[in-house]
Amino acid sequence: MDSKSLLCFSILCFSLLPELSGVVRVSAGRGSHRHRHRERRSSQSLGGGELWNSNPRKLFVFGDSYVDTGNNRKPAAKSWQYPYGVTFPGKPTGRFSDGRVLTDYLAKYLKVKSPIPYKWRKVGYGQLKYGMNFAYGGTGVFNTFVMSPNMSTQIDFFQQLIGELTFTSQDLQSSVALVSLAGNDYSVYQATDGSAQGWQPFITKVVNQLEVNLRRIHGVGVPKIVVTALEPLGCLPSSTVASSFQQCNATENQLVNFHNMLLQQSVAKLNSEVKDASASTFILLDLYSSFMAALNNKGDHLGNVKFENPLKPCCVGVSSEYSCGSMGSNGEKKYTICEDPGAAFFWDEVHPTQHGWFAVYSALQANLKQF
Ligand SMILES: *[C@@H]1O[C@H](CO)[C@@H](O)[C@H](O)[C@H]1NC(C)=O
Ligand SMILES: *[C@@H]1O[C@H](CO)[C@@H](O)[C@H](O)[C@H]1NC(C)=O
Repeated sequence: MDSKSLLCFSILCFSLLPELSGVVRVSAGRGSHRHRHRERRSSQSLGGGELWNSNPRKLFVFGDSYVDTGNNRKPAAKSWQYPYGVTFPGKPTGRFSDGRVLTDYLAKYLKVKSPIPYKWRKVGYGQLKYGMNFAYGGTGVFNTFVMSPNMSTQIDFFQQLIGELTFTSQDLQSSVALVSLAGNDYSVYQATDGSAQGWQPFITKVVNQLEVNLRRIHGVGVPKIVVTALEPLGCLPSSTVASSFQQCNATENQLVNFHNMLLQQSVAKLNSEVKDASASTFILLDLYSSFMAALNNKGDHLGNVKFENPLKPCCVGVSSEYSCGSMGSNGEKKYTICEDPGAAFFWDEVHPTQHGWFAVYSALQANLKQF
């Protein structure tokens, strides 16, 4: 895996989406009787689902580019540059995809709007009612090449806001946390030759730190925590480019399996520590199997949509020194985009397209029923 490209691609961000700015406008009425009445009506119209009277479920998000919806630096991050966001909403929004990412689909599942990125909290005050997204592309549990806050610092931000009563304990009562760790710690480890010391001890260290973070989020008062298993890193275009996007790197996927096995043990341990054993507090979201399902059946379960060559990314640099979104010194495009991003699973070297994420989300349905 080319860690440099993984890092530069995993820096993920956001701007106020049209759908979000609608909410900002009604924010003045937050807490007023009229506004509450409106919320109650609209939550009833969702049909089924869980109703928490006027207080919708809040989603708090931590991690990296797979879930970041706009915390990264604008306009420097690629996710703030064309062609990111071309499919949805038609311009870059700080997401590392042509459109929606995992957070947006999990929010949809929870019947809430995608929560506002931490960085934009002052701009979009009304969005606070859906929670907040603290994830920064390019980050890991440990410090990576990017200057963005690691997961511990992201949780510090969350705690600060709770301390300031931006979120009350009542707000947390029905909340859900989504935690993504997609592999930036590993790309840095590899790039800094740390891997000479052996992968297994380092993987163990990463998962142990992740466990500490998950326990902290629960300790702060979030009753439901969803954590992603590592996706098959050996199937990312950054790896499969070595075989002209023909096959996954089995060596890398074995290391991923080791990470996921340890993480599964951590999740089981964390659940056993929780007093109320009847509910699963910590849920592992199996991105490994769901990526594999989407890649193997070429999206067949989505009806008539198929991914032609699921390993081949839609947006690529014109040569190895360039990548999706690269510009030459005269502002000329140094990348190409496929004809139909909806027919590609991967958008760039490491990130799925919106359609790719939708396929993953579809494959995760049984997993999500654990809620
Ligand atoms: C996270 O970042 C902060 C600030 O750079 C640093 O002090 C802390 O040690 C980091 N945490 C971990 C677990 O690496
Ligand atoms: C698979 O990945 C490993 C570790 O990154 C690398 O050493 C190896 O060359 C790769 N194998 C292929 C066939 O690309």
